[in-house]
Amino acid sequence: MNFDKIISREGTHTEKYDQRVQKFGTDDVIPLWVADMDFPSSPAIQEAIINRVKHPIYGYTRYYDEYFASILKWMQKAHNWKIQKEWIAPINAIVTGLNLAVEALTKKGDGVIIQPPIYPPFYEAVKRQKRTLLENELKLVDGRYEIDFEDFEKKAKLAKLFLFCSPHNPTSRLWSKKELEKLAQICKQNGVIIVSDEVHADLVFDGEFTPMATLQSAKNITITLNAPSKTFNIAGIVSAYAIVENSSLKRKFYEIFQRYSLTEPSPISLCATVASYTKSDKWLEELLIYLRGNLEYLHTRLSKIPKIKAMPLEATFLLWLDCKELGFTDKKLEQFFIKDAKLGLNTGVSFGKGGEGFMRLNFATSRLVLKDAMDKLESCIKNHKG
Ligand SMILES: Cc1ncc(COP(=O)(O)O)c(C=O)c1O
Repeated sequence: MNFDKIISREGTHTEKYDQRVQKFGTDDVIPLWVADMDFPSSPAIQEAIINRVKHPIYGYTRYYDEYFASILKWMQKAHNWKIQKEWIAPINAIVTGLNLAVEALTKKGDGVIIQPPIYPPFYEAVKRQKRTLLENELKLVDGRYEIDFEDFEKKAKLAKLFLFCSPHNPTSRLWSKKELEKLAQICKQNGVIIVSDEVHADLVFDGEFTPMATLQSAKNITITLNAPSKTFNIAGIVSAYAIVENSSLKRKFYEIFQRYSLTEPSPISLCATVASYTKSDKWLEELLIYLRGNLEYLHTRLSKIPKIKAMPLEATFLLWLDCKELGFTDKKLEQFFIKDAKLGLNTGVSFGKGGEGFMRLNFATSRLVLKDAMDKLESCIKNHKG
């Protein structure tokens, strides 16, 4: 796959490009925000969708064995996790899973732990449903984000649910087995259910990913949420699933999807999922090489741009930039990126506590686009007085 090739996405009603005016007040920015990639999906995915679309009847569709088998196969191959078909609960999107887990497993006022700075829907899932937000803020220790376990334990005593992000967006932390074990032990001791959002699990650059539910102490209390959407760039197709080994927990979680009639699959999402997990290995291998190259390129360029520091990246295609040295307020930092550098990034503050002074850059785009972005950033930082 030629990932260098720039394919215009404008006019396809895509959020990243076509919502620039709503998001940044102008379309004169290079969009490096919402977490999808500017790359074509694998040839196998394209072919599977085209073949299905060629059949002109798009009626109600059932989940078929091949769909479940593809998830089983992927979990075994990519994460050495042997799961069973009965553990899988198809959900349409991960964020739906986060929201409905909160609704199904807690009551108004119950405590729910999240670890900011965090992907905003984690906050929304708790706040919109009027649960008590328990923020276990990540700590920066020697330039790396760490979990404050002492605080986590205190919060766990007040919590019913823990919305976990693994690997973590936006800090890109890939949690170690030891860290997972500690979290699981505390949750188990305090009767806290874990919802582990593992959508970035296949996009790992430094270290090895462990699914939370593979730990003995976690398997009975964990709902894993995953999808081919990030890995294979099919977020717009909308396909995700939960894995829950504990059958009574699965029933409790899934009942709400049935109640809201959220269990009808789209024929396109099913065939795209199967093609992702069974026929796209080579594409993914090439993608990871390209993304690693982009990351190295950004590190080289950013090392020559004063006052902006890239945090170490362990997973995801989202680089977390420490811009505190610029000394701007968050409003000014946002405007500086939009108006001066003409770059559309996510602000750190949109990820809540601990996001102040940071920006998040999506580097899943052609290297030429990144070059243009770095040229713009470099020249406006160098011309900036003060
Ligand atoms: C951690 C995390 N979870 C969930 C999502 C979105 O998943 P979905 O589109 O399936 O709701 C994202 C997208 O950026 C994400 O980063």
